[in-house]
Amino acid sequence: MSVKPLSDETLPGAKLDVIKMPGHWLLARLGKRVLRPGGLELTRLLLAALNIGPTDRVVEFAPGVGATAKLALMRNPASYTGIERDGAAAARIRNYLHGATQRCLVGQAEATGLEDGRATVVYGEAMLTMQTDFQKRRIIAEAYRILERDGRYGIHELALVGDDLTSELKAQIQKDLALVAHVGARPLTADEWREHLTAAGFTVLVVRFAPMRLLEPVRFVRDEGLAVSLRFVFRLARDRDARRRVLAMRRVFRQYRNNLSAIMLMAVK
Ligand SMILES: C[S@@+](CC[C@H](N)C(=O)[O-])C[C@H]1O[C@@H](n2cnc3c(N)ncnc32)[C@H](O)[C@@H]1O
Repeated sequence: MSVKPLSDETLPGAKLDVIKMPGHWLLARLGKRVLRPGGLELTRLLLAALNIGPTDRVVEFAPGVGATAKLALMRNPASYTGIERDGAAAARIRNYLHGATQRCLVGQAEATGLEDGRATVVYGEAMLTMQTDFQKRRIIAEAYRILERDGRYGIHELALVGDDLTSELKAQIQKDLALVAHVGARPLTADEWREHLTAAGFTVLVVRFAPMRLLEPVRFVRDEGLAVSLRFVFRLARDRDARRRVLAMRRVFRQYRNNLSAIMLMAVK
């Protein structure tokens, strides 16, 4: 197995300093492609709940490096539109889109510029957790606006769980996560996620949980396969700054493992 250098200029955040860059782009630079808390397992449940088929006009918010886009496209939807704010990520996704019905736009999920009611399915993973409450509301409202009546909306995010969850503990978890991930990290309880969706007008039909094991070896290999996982480890071994950052992230995930969970919700308009 060859271990490529960490100099892929087409990767998002390629020019950023390892010490400061957002955690998800650091993981992508090291070769990780599944960047959401519940891994492929919860993504598969999300796609099953959304039941994407050949008549669907699908919009994905924040496809990142496109692992879920590939799975959604395998279901042959009538159209696919990604809305990704990172230009490098959007450009990579365009490499495997085909024809006029598949596109990835550089844009903001809270203001997509798409017509009212043009989508039958909208979904986004690991993109709401990093937003403020205000932005979460804007993005969910935008999903509602662009969906047709009865359209389906799916999210896969980070949830706070546990009977011991005081507001102090919640604030501490958010602070510690943001400190190691270098992006806002504002997970909500399952009830709060549900309330966000219902306040926007959605009816929640499905809620599922999966353990938050993003950086645990068993999940890692399950999500990425053995070759990518080994390459990730080799790359970490050769890069002290990257290693420190990844281990710091894993330490915080482990510290709060009883209070963090991945959550998937599917709702209809
Ligand atoms: C943690 S990554 C998740 C990527 C992908 N959804 C996945 O699960 O592997 C977060 C992604 O959200 C994108 N993003 C964050 N806020 C956004 C917004 N307001 N509009 C569009 N994309 C956004 C980032 O550029 C990045 O691709």
